[in-house]
Amino acid sequence: MAAQPDTAVFELLESNVRSYCRSAPLVFTRAKGPHLFTEDGRRILDFFSGAGALNYGHNDEAMTEALVSHLRSGGVLHGLDLYTATKRDLLHTIQDCLLTPRGWDYKVQFCGPTGADASEAAIKLARKVTGRRGILAFNGSYHGMTAGALAVSGARRLRAYGSPGANAETTFVPYENSMYGPFDSLAHLDRLVEEAGSAFELPAAVIVESVQIQAGVFAASAEWLRGVREWTERHGVLLICDEVQSGCGRAGDFFAFDHAGIVPDIVTTAKSISGNGLPMALLFMKRELDVWEPGEHTGTFRGNQLAFITAKIALEYWQNEEFRQHLAENASALDGFARQATQLDAPVKLRWTGMLAGIDFGLGNLDAAARAQALCLDAGVLVERCGPNGEVVKLMPPINTPTDVLTEGFTAVLDVIPKAI
Ligand SMILES: Cc1ncc(COP(=O)(O)O)c(C=O)c1O
Repeated sequence: MAAQPDTAVFELLESNVRSYCRSAPLVFTRAKGPHLFTEDGRRILDFFSGAGALNYGHNDEAMTEALVSHLRSGGVLHGLDLYTATKRDLLHTIQDCLLTPRGWDYKVQFCGPTGADASEAAIKLARKVTGRRGILAFNGSYHGMTAGALAVSGARRLRAYGSPGANAETTFVPYENSMYGPFDSLAHLDRLVEEAGSAFELPAAVIVESVQIQAGVFAASAEWLRGVREWTERHGVLLICDEVQSGCGRAGDFFAFDHAGIVPDIVTTAKSISGNGLPMALLFMKRELDVWEPGEHTGTFRGNQLAFITAKIALEYWQNEEFRQHLAENASALDGFARQATQLDAPVKLRWTGMLAGIDFGLGNLDAAARAQALCLDAGVLVERCGPNGEVVKLMPPINTPTDVLTEGFTAVLDVIPKAI
């Protein structure tokens, strides 16, 4: 029998709050591309991608080279928001790779390095711009763990220890689709405003994920996203698109709302925006919304120069036709996998878009989903679960995984699904 990994000190000293390690109780030492390696020599295919922070895989060669060279040259590591040559390079790349191709006249805010801080900044900015307090969010949403971000996140359990005051300022509306079925959110939004007996007051902003991943992988339709954009414009409400998990290629395009052709007022990004998992979060806002006074939303760790270096390389990949072609091939392989999975003799539903799939074992049927997750790990594939209670196995491989490796992983997952029922 293989020796058990030595995890005693984690159990002794690390807080009970730890979570992902519980379903993957291995000890990892190295990582390369789509693979993680354990200290006892197992090779694990990473279909979790650091919860969306590793869309370009682990330790990308070009990024590693650039990091080592910066470190060896004595380059600045921590820069607060001082001007550095590294940040200047990144801003030029953002302009060339993201803003100019979309015709966006946006400004860029460097936030504290988490998605939650980008949510906080977006909410505060919307309040400052509009002079209103309320935020409209969607059931099932997830925008981070700080009090303001939790207030616009749809999980009761998580919000319980947040701020009651902030919680009270959010109006929740069901999303276009969920584990509880489809909903006509757009009609509901109209009713909120039009009914004389409604207590609803126009909010500062609507905050929305174009794909609700934590809710169980629900991708909004282009029509719905355009409807939300139209409603917000009609009522002078700002539209914040949270691209923290769904962005950076996860849904197929760079932004998950790209297919809808909408132009949000504010876009939040984190996770894979840095390219290789280094902490960094950015907020993009229409130029006229940049009404911040200096230092009004600050933070010590807004100047992670190493993240700037890798972010620049990652953004440049989007200019590369081969990279885009490979992504399209991988998305097509994922589409093939999902179609095959729907044919299995197993009571599961598949939802997928781009490089993201959810295998839904049914509301309340978390045991089967947990079994599937454990069996995947036995078969050498790391996956996570999402959905209201963890009923959905979520597949998020690095978007640039070699297609044959991707297919190997899909074959293993197809084999696991019926065994988990
Ligand atoms: C959609 C979305 N927004 C915000 C966050 C918060 O990001 P972070 O964990 O970096 O604070 C997450 C994290 O999973 C997320 O999925």
